[in-house]
Amino acid sequence: MVSSFIRLLSTFGFSAFLLVHAAPAHLSEPSVKHAWQQIPADWEVHDAPAADHPITLKIGLKQSRIDELIDSLYQVSDPFHGRYGQHLSRLEVEELVAPHADTVDVVDSWLISHGVDPSSDVTRNGAGDWISIRLPLSKVESMLSTKYQIYKHKRTSEKIVRTLSYSLPRDLHDHIDIIQPTTMFDNMRKMHATSHVNKVDPSSTLSAAELAALPDVTGPNGQQIAASCNTTVTPTCLMQLYRTEGYVPKAANKGNRIGITGFLEQFINFVDLQTFFSKFRPDALGANVTVISVDGGLNDQTIPGVEANLDNQYTEGITFPTPNIFYSTPGTAPTINDSVTPPQRDEPYIDWLNFVLSHDDMPFSFTTSYGGDEQTFPKEFAVRACNLFAQLGARGASIMFSSGDGGVGAGTCETNDGTNRTIFQPVFPATCPFVTGVGATFQIAPEKGIFFSQGGFSVYFPRPSFQDKAVPPFLQKLGNTYKGLFTPGGRGVPDVSAQGEGFQVVVGGEVESVGGTSASSPTFAGIVTLLNDFRISNGKPPLGFLNPLLYSVGVPGFVDILLGNNPGCGTPGFNATEGWDAITGLGTPDFVKLKSLIG
Ligand SMILES: *[C@@H]1O[C@H](CO)[C@@H](O)[C@H](O)[C@H]1NC(C)=O
Ligand SMILES: *[C@@H]1O[C@H](CO)[C@@H](O)[C@H](O)[C@H]1NC(C)=O
Ligand SMILES: *[C@@H]1O[C@H](CO)[C@@H](O)[C@H](O)[C@H]1NC(C)=O
Ligand SMILES: *[C@@H]1O[C@H](CO)[C@@H](O)[C@H](O)[C@H]1NC(C)=O
Ligand SMILES: *[C@@H]1O[C@H](CO)[C@@H](O)[C@H](O)[C@H]1NC(C)=O
Repeated sequence: MVSSFIRLLSTFGFSAFLLVHAAPAHLSEPSVKHAWQQIPADWEVHDAPAADHPITLKIGLKQSRIDELIDSLYQVSDPFHGRYGQHLSRLEVEELVAPHADTVDVVDSWLISHGVDPSSDVTRNGAGDWISIRLPLSKVESMLSTKYQIYKHKRTSEKIVRTLSYSLPRDLHDHIDIIQPTTMFDNMRKMHATSHVNKVDPSSTLSAAELAALPDVTGPNGQQIAASCNTTVTPTCLMQLYRTEGYVPKAANKGNRIGITGFLEQFINFVDLQTFFSKFRPDALGANVTVISVDGGLNDQTIPGVEANLDNQYTEGITFPTPNIFYSTPGTAPTINDSVTPPQRDEPYIDWLNFVLSHDDMPFSFTTSYGGDEQTFPKEFAVRACNLFAQLGARGASIMFSSGDGGVGAGTCETNDGTNRTIFQPVFPATCPFVTGVGATFQIAPEKGIFFSQGGFSVYFPRPSFQDKAVPPFLQKLGNTYKGLFTPGGRGVPDVSAQGEGFQVVVGGEVESVGGTSASSPTFAGIVTLLNDFRISNGKPPLGFLNPLLYSVGVPGFVDILLGNNPGCGTPGFNATEGWDAITGLGTPDFVKLKSLIG
């Protein structure tokens, strides 16, 4: 409180100080907390929302000891540190992220000054670092010195209630990280699932009988792989290629589980899962997946989702009999509709993260196949969400994200800061250093980086120390190529890669051929789940946050991918090269080697 008193004094003088003391209402003048320079791409102003439109305001209070949390995360994730594997409990994490009492005081006085009762009107999470309040729009507008609009998406016609900027009293800036919904436009539509369905040209492909007759191909570690896996990927192909074949999971009853996130009203279909097993993993027939609903998320059996089915069929195809958990999180918060305003669309990542973090028990690995161009997320949002992934990692979870399907950037690659420069567009959340970004490969013997595999360098997050050995040689080889088109000091993505084309997925009873880094992330997560199985069945803790391990002792456990490039933004993109590269990362996993290196 002391520092804000000093600032109040210097702003208003002594009489103002007395006034503030009597009624904490008069905090300093509002100043801009976050603003966009232009209306985010693809959106336009549609109409003015009703003054009584209900908003559930979510306020992320400054986490008092977040630096300590991140230090702890690195210690428990560093195989050379004495604390390696000593993951934190829910309460230990909550203690580190809880806001300082001064923060709570200042924010409460601000709420009181707007007629909000901090004890009865406000909901707080376990750590107290998130509060939410349901308020009419007019109240929110006066609290944030802003004016909301209904924005309409030019292609999908979807409508959201947002603003281009919001302000807070200067003294609150150090106590509040983020308030949403405000300037977060990157809603569910744009956080598109990173998968695509291929149209297979029957004249150019071999028949099943012809494929079956081909001799096996020898893989990079001497393994035999069915020749059909070159173009048609099944769980058996992945087990052969990444050498998990013959490994029998033993920790299925000891708490090892994998979590698959579902957004965008993507649902898994139970009948499709059994059909998939009967065709591609007959020994798993009868195995199921547990669906957990977050904020009322559904799992409608009449609309099976390609993305959700892909993710779950492949995690389960690789990890059976390990329990699989599907989290269904809706993009739409339950709201009371009014005549003028559409239902409020919420940002789902933070809701999902807070949900998982609120439980003592959680899966040890997660895969998410959703993301969006980093620049379309307010930086304050990206940083706060990234810190939530750090919390999850500190609890002992490995978090995989698709690196995106746009090469070095989809579309025009223009900056949105008003200057309209061209720069490569990496995808968030894969750019968060606390998650493992997974790029895509295709074909076998050799495996190659595929053109769409998104990679590059974060603008928001600097290069983490775990990349200090791997990334500079790549930059050196690149020299001045693409100078100005990317941030060489940024966190490099992806970290690793796995197959991402020609996956056989059952959707609505039919087999479809699906590709995307959406296929790669579940594949890599499945292998991590088996590594966790091996560790847990040997009485060891799970791997947790993977990157410090992968970039050190893990390196020889990867097959370095040397071919392929990822065009985008009017360039041929980056090349796969010896060592880490910005299309395939460290390469693709070899389970047998990884098991002996890090098991
Ligand atoms: C994989 O398919 C590609 C493209 O059809 C072909 O050029 C390559 O020789 C095939 N590789 C193997 C090992 O069959
Ligand atoms: C899987 O679980 C769902 C939801 O509980 C259920 O409806 C379905 O019948 C189960 N499938 C099998 C094969 O047990
Ligand atoms: C609100 O409106 C949407 C369509 O705009 C509709 O799908 C939804 O069912 C409505 N919800 C309620 C509670 O009326
Ligand atoms: C940048 O692009 C936006 C959107 O296309 C346009 O409105 C704006 O005028 C452009 N600014 C400059 C400096 O070219
Ligand atoms: C990629 O490799 C090609 C062929 O060797 C070379 O011409 C090109 O300059 C390389 N591009 C980059 C960005 O390194």
